[in-house]
Amino acid sequence: MTLYGVGLGPGESDLVTVRGKRVLEDADVVYSPGRLSKSVVTDHIPERRIGDLDFPMTRDPEELRTAWRDAASEVAPRARDGDAAFVTLGDPNVYSTFGHLRRTLDAFHPEVDVETVPGVSAVSAFTTALGVEVDAGAGLALREASQGKSPTGPDRMVLFKVTDAPATHEGLVDDGYDVTYGRRLFMEQGDTTVTSDPEEIAERDYYTLAYAERAGLQKDRPTAFEDARGDEVAGDD
Ligand SMILES: C[S@@+](CC[C@H](N)C(=O)[O-])C[C@H]1O[C@@H](n2cnc3c(N)ncnc32)[C@H](O)[C@@H]1O
Repeated sequence: MTLYGVGLGPGESDLVTVRGKRVLEDADVVYSPGRLSKSVVTDHIPERRIGDLDFPMTRDPEELRTAWRDAASEVAPRARDGDAAFVTLGDPNVYSTFGHLRRTLDAFHPEVDVETVPGVSAVSAFTTALGVEVDAGAGLALREASQGKSPTGPDRMVLFKVTDAPATHEGLVDDGYDVTYGRRLFMEQGDTTVTSDPEEIAERDYYTLAYAERAGLQKDRPTAFEDARGDEVAGDD
């Protein structure tokens, strides 16, 4: 049988995909590594079908490797004898813990089949919440900005893990970026904030993203007016 990595979306339970919901309903056991993902899951299935997996709060690579091996040993027999699911917020393949589990299963339990059910990533939830249009052909880089880091370089970046917005902001503005922040977007718990003022979100909250764009970036956007004049406008999504 199969282990399904299911993306739950940004945190509101009606942003779980139809397929994700079906997989959760059909799975014999659903593993949920965090409190927020568990609250989304329990909107779809009874709590008694949620399995237990412990993850230490550590960055120590050896401790983490051991934790993932233990997790894989717990999950493997359940996914061999039936169907199991492991959920992540957003998408399981975007900056996610699911990759650790999949690689550990591949190495130690290759008999387990693994499938992924994509979810709405915080990246697209964010661009929607901000009304940012990522134009066709535009480059968009994903980076991490934990502990006040300010990665720079690309013209447009989505930054994950903005845990010290004022410090991150300073570095980005010094390098010529306009920055907007989004906190707890499309989430059931906590207050949603979208702001360009880093002081408004100075208090640490892991569920914070930033969108940084080089000030004065040239945008060449066709409009219906140009279309009517016969200029070339692509119709593809
Ligand atoms: C480890 S990454 C997980 C990304 C996830 N797999 C995805 O596809 O969205 C965690 C980071 O995603 C961002 N994030 C996830 N959900 C969010 C939300 N609903 N609102 C704001 N930021 C969010 C935060 O920057 C957080 O630090």
